[in-house]
Amino acid sequence: MPRPISIVPSVLPADFSRLGDECMNLEKAGVDRIQFDVMDGVFVPNLTFGPDVIASVRPHVEVPFEAHLMVVEPDRLLERYVEAGCGIVIVHAEACTHLHRTLARIGDLGATPGLALNPHTPAEVVSQVCDLVGLVLVMTVNPGFGGQEYIATMEPKIAEVAAIVDGRDCDVEVDGGIGPATVAGAAAAGANVLVSGSALYRDPEGLDHAVADLRARAESASH
Ligand code: DX5
Repeated sequence: MPRPISIVPSVLPADFSRLGDECMNLEKAGVDRIQFDVMDGVFVPNLTFGPDVIASVRPHVEVPFEAHLMVVEPDRLLERYVEAGCGIVIVHAEACTHLHRTLARIGDLGATPGLALNPHTPAEVVSQVCDLVGLVLVMTVNPGFGGQEYIATMEPKIAEVAAIVDGRDCDVEVDGGIGPATVAGAAAAGANVLVSGSALYRDPEGLDHAVADLRARAESASH
């Protein structure tokens, strides 16, 4: 049974001076949840949201939040992002010395554990922790910045991950360069959660159209 398609905006391209309004607009546009790209300036060159920023937005929208932790030693921060209101916490395999323990801890904190794989990391990593995760994020760019080009050679890895988690209560998510021209390839390969930042904000017909268009393209490609 294919898992439902979800469209998840990254708020990286949003106007940070109006982040609350931006999240309300995304909710009105029909997104399934909102992703905060958390960057520490070490694991990736960029620096973004602390937990207090996310907590300040939390009361203004109903949709679930996910924290994509592009940080070193994420164990230090798990509790704070869960307390800030993130129901899903995604850590990078490459940033975790004891990945199995970190994922289990996210579950113990009451959040859904997510595992992100950078482009160079093989899908095989998932098979060792697939009983612990509710989401596997296959990065289709090298993390750190929005607006990068989709890496189409990740599509076989998306299919590999989908096969590993098949039959489990686990989403296959992709993030990076997802837009009208690339979403079908990712969905056809097996992704059911599509994260998009710049393409959503770039749509001349606005967010409502952008979300509906991505969803329609993904749904028709995934059947
Ligand atoms: C990379 C970020 C981006 C962002 C979406 O570290 O994770 O992938 O979410 O970026 P776009 O959709 O603009 O490529």
